[in-house]
Amino acid sequence: ANVVGQLIKGKLDSPNTKPEDLAKGEGAVITLDGHRKGAYRDDDGKVHIVDTTCTHIGCEVEWNNGDKTWDCPCHGSRFKFTGEVIEGPAEKPLQKYDYTMMDNLTSEDS
Ligand code: FES
Repeated sequence: ANVVGQLIKGKLDSPNTKPEDLAKGEGAVITLDGHRKGAYRDDDGKVHIVDTTCTHIGCEVEWNNGDKTWDCPCHGSRFKFTGEVIEGPAEKPLQKYDYTMMDNLTSEDS
C-alpha cells in the first residue's frame, strides 16, 4: 500500500509518521512534536516543513500532490511547498520550519 496516499486520504496527524518516511516528491500533514505540520520531501530527499495554518484567517491547508502545493479549502489560497504564496487571498507565506534543527533528522537514504 502507498503509505503516503493513506496519510493524505485521512490518517492525518499520525504521531508515528516522520518526514523521512515520505517518498521523495510526496507531502502529507503529519504531527511533529505534537503539532500539526505540513511536510514535503523533495526529489533530492530534502524535507520542507511548514505550519498548516493558512495565513488568511486560519483554516488548515491540505496537500495537493498533483501540483506539489498546499491549498486552502476555505477561500482558495495556495502556497508553494516552501510556504510562499502562489494565490491569495492570503498575503503572507506559511510559517516555515528548518527541519535540520529538529532532533529526529536521519541520514539520507540515497
Ligand atoms: Fe485560507 Fe481564507 S483561510 S484562504
